[in-house]
Amino acid sequence: MQETIIILDFGSQTTQLIARRIRELGIYCEIHPYNKMPDPAAVNAIGVILSGSPFSVYDKEAFKIDLTTIPAELPVLGICYGAQFMAYSNGGTVEPAPSREYVRAHLTEVNVCDPLMADIEPGAQVWMSHGDTITSLPDDFTCIASTEKVDIAAYRVGSRAAWGVQFHPEVYHSECGMTILRNFAVGICKAKRDWSAASFIDTTVEALRKQLGDDKVVLGLSGGVDSSVAAVLLNKAIGHNLTCIFVDHGMLRKNEFTEVLRDYECLGLNVIGVDASAEFFAALAGVTEPEKKRKIIGKGFIDTFDREAHKLKDIKWLAQGTIYPDCIESLSITGTVIKSHHNVGGLPEKMNLKLCEPLRLLFKDEVRAVGRQLGMPEHLITRHPFPGPGLAVRILGDITPEKVAILQEADHIFIKGLRDHGLYDKVWQAGAILLPVQSVGVMGDERTYERAIALRAVTSTDAMTADWAHLPYEFLAQVSNDIINHVKGVNRVCYDISSKPPATIEWE
Ligand code: XMP
Repeated sequence: MQETIIILDFGSQTTQLIARRIRELGIYCEIHPYNKMPDPAAVNAIGVILSGSPFSVYDKEAFKIDLTTIPAELPVLGICYGAQFMAYSNGGTVEPAPSREYVRAHLTEVNVCDPLMADIEPGAQVWMSHGDTITSLPDDFTCIASTEKVDIAAYRVGSRAAWGVQFHPEVYHSECGMTILRNFAVGICKAKRDWSAASFIDTTVEALRKQLGDDKVVLGLSGGVDSSVAAVLLNKAIGHNLTCIFVDHGMLRKNEFTEVLRDYECLGLNVIGVDASAEFFAALAGVTEPEKKRKIIGKGFIDTFDREAHKLKDIKWLAQGTIYPDCIESLSITGTVIKSHHNVGGLPEKMNLKLCEPLRLLFKDEVRAVGRQLGMPEHLITRHPFPGPGLAVRILGDITPEKVAILQEADHIFIKGLRDHGLYDKVWQAGAILLPVQSVGVMGDERTYERAIALRAVTSTDAMTADWAHLPYEFLAQVSNDIINHVKGVNRVCYDISSKPPATIEWE
């Protein structure tokens, strides 16, 4: 059975990053709310990590656990709050700080004889939260590293296999972070490092065959990487007992429906392409309010999918490309556990089918690795994210087929330009937006009064925050010229230089 490192989440923003780092080491791990420790035997646990937290150990609402409930044979690593909590609850002293600031620090004293600190050079940079600080340790704890300003930057517990680090080894700025996590997971927990895209595919294909038997499954494809990888994985497991449905709501990119459909067919998928664009345009006619547009498209998608699925016989399962970040239960500041799992578009409720989510354990980069291992073409795997309602949320104001056609052309020029200049993979996502304004221009000797297009390109790692991409001026100038010269009805191009927050990636 797969070995697991359990990460108990005390609400830190970097908890998912801890999990990604452990997975990068080739070790499977799971995040659980701090107060929901799973049965270690049931998940074949080999170690436990306690995450950071927005709280101080002194806060009345601080998340607390009884550390003795973690079986003594499981090594423990406390990170930041996790370390402070272990020290404090065993009689150590933690000094509260009025503000919480993240700063770079450098390890000065390092006990390299300690297994957690093996191969760590003094001087290594770490990312420290200069909030609370441990100022004295319980009797049987030993300090194993210091920084310029903090005496107890890391410690070892004497009475059991447990360690604490006050800095954040999981963030990129901590130069020795990966070594520390490797020392813990591999050196101390003795992880076999058997988690890989190939091992995931083997175990998942076998599990899917067992779970689904001869049952028939339906899956909605969007053209995006998650649903595509889920489909190829299921196809490998159950072949033509899987039927995929790809709905064209009329607001896809230029040629996207035919090109993606062809890709799917080349992958051997049993896929039905449904052109429902006329119905969507009719339902959207005259609607300008962003949320209303989204609701109409969401409902239209569910109705179309449901109608098509009902034409199939004996379907028992609905498969979805849900991924791990969608499933992790997130903690609110009040301590309530919020189930953040969203059933995409409300399909499962409507269809009354059993739910199959073969990617629910994977992070996005792991989904891509699995796709590559399955032999999927690179352009499907590295596609930019694209919103479910498509160009409808990039046309400000009401939607008409004519406006969609204009936007498709402008967007196509922009995206092709990014690819031709080797910039496509350097940005998180990009697209064009059709603005609800007209402005005066001059074309030859003629006065024009035409539409304006905004270009948007952002860099990001998870879409939660994003910066506008600093694309070269020469490139933007070229794209602007190409759009104005080739897209009839457009005489002005702007570049969106807002970051998220406070702006969002999409305009609607
Ligand atoms: P915002 O605009 O909220 O977008 O900064 C964050 C990310 O989510 C994508 N997005 C969507 N994806 N259905 C989706 O599947 C949607 O309705 C939707 N709206 C926004 C957006 O493209 C960006 O990657």
